[in-house]
Amino acid sequence: MSPTRRRTRRLPKYRRARIRHFLFIVGPNRVSGGRITRRHLAQGVVVRESEMASPRWPEAFDGLRIGHVSDFHLGALMPIDKALEVVECLAAQQPELIACTGDMVDLDSPDIGQLLAALAAVDAPLGCLLVLGNHDELHDPDGLAQCARELGITVLRNEAVSIARGGTAMVIAGIEWGRSAVLCARHVDMACGDGGDPHLLLAHNPKAFLRAADLGIPLTLSGHTHGGQIAMKKRPNTNLSITHRRSIGRFQTDGSMLYVTSGIGAWFPLRVNCPAEIAMLTIRHDPAPAPE
Ligand SMILES: [Fe+2]
Repeated sequence: MSPTRRRTRRLPKYRRARIRHFLFIVGPNRVSGGRITRRHLAQGVVVRESEMASPRWPEAFDGLRIGHVSDFHLGALMPIDKALEVVECLAAQQPELIACTGDMVDLDSPDIGQLLAALAAVDAPLGCLLVLGNHDELHDPDGLAQCARELGITVLRNEAVSIARGGTAMVIAGIEWGRSAVLCARHVDMACGDGGDPHLLLAHNPKAFLRAADLGIPLTLSGHTHGGQIAMKKRPNTNLSITHRRSIGRFQTDGSMLYVTSGIGAWFPLRVNCPAEIAMLTIRHDPAPAPE
């Protein structure tokens, strides 16, 4: 597809996103004299520790500690100072690997380079990997990806890479944004054709898990849903993300695991019973078949 055609397709989406931004963020904030955004920004980001286990997970990577961050939405509801504090907190958890599952920006942000540089500077021995989300695609996905790569972040756009720990290799695949399960599946197939069977899949949309489980990929990490942002008390899966069956937390199908993070940022300035999170995941090889 030529750059011109891509631009003409993308512009209406960007305009729609700006209108939504005005309706849900700028307008209510002006009416409230800035109170809504101030209250939202004062909410913290929790560190949520989770352990997941599967017989499919490679024994050589037993105990791998992944720092999973997603959906910063850098912009009006996530100023760079707050984003950098989150990265500092992530670094303090000493992850071996950092997985960023998209929506780094909300619309576009002059501060994105600073955020990517901070992530790249975290001392994670197996590196930092990134896939793009639907919001990253609104303005300049290629520029964002190039900036990340120049800083040393591995950006996966329907492709896979191999990393090694203790002489054993692991294949990590990452896909572009796809709205539907069908499109996600197409992207997963493209990524899997590059570098052998993946052990880990990064996909902004958790709907990619359907194909990942079909293929027996041991672990998929996703974001996008923000956990619905508003959830029932003590029932995180009852939330506003009604188009996603798997909208927050841990899932397992036939030994394939999925973690959907509630993310760091927001697209509207409210979170109820659904805190923003840095997900610290410890992944275990468990020879016993896991209950479904
Ligand atoms: Fe998002």
